[in-house]
Amino acid sequence: MKSKKIHISIDEYGVGESLPEADEKLVTEAEKALTGSYAPYSKFHVGAAVLLEDGQIVKGSNQENAAYPSGLCAERVALFHANATYPDKKIKSIAITAKAEYFEMNNPVAPCGGCRQVIAETEMRQNEAIRIIMKGEKGDAYVVEGINNLLPLLFHEEKLKDSIKTKS
Ligand code: THU
Repeated sequence: MKSKKIHISIDEYGVGESLPEADEKLVTEAEKALTGSYAPYSKFHVGAAVLLEDGQIVKGSNQENAAYPSGLCAERVALFHANATYPDKKIKSIAITAKAEYFEMNNPVAPCGGCRQVIAETEMRQNEAIRIIMKGEKGDAYVVEGINNLLPLLFHEEKLKDSIKTKS
């Protein structure tokens, strides 16, 4: 038996410490995206903004549904919109924020497992890491350079391609 350690790296920006300008701008766009959130069930509004390589910004917000699993997270709305509309443009970074109706969101909003998997596949498609900026309404912000800092030991779709090759 061998124990392994996986190192992840997070940049933490405390209250009063400003993020790099481009990140701050993307967070502001994610905050603007909150107005499009449809969250009548959770009352938890999430906004995301994606920066493309040409400087364009694509926004998304969580969209809920009475059939709960039919809803979609803000990050995936933004990423799928960006990938569907600009499939050849690389995604440089994504900012995520949230505002709850009944409590104050003072922690950085980290993407859920499903969104991490989608960020991972987007990185693999474009062969480039995505910078992820996480912020609550108030409080600290976290920044990571690439999904490997949030999703070590991820499920990798290359294995699926291999299994198809083996069959034919
Ligand atoms: N949500 C997101 O939009 N992103 C996440 O990463 C976590 C959760 C949404 C889904 C649902 O509409 C609400 O937050 C409560 O879970």
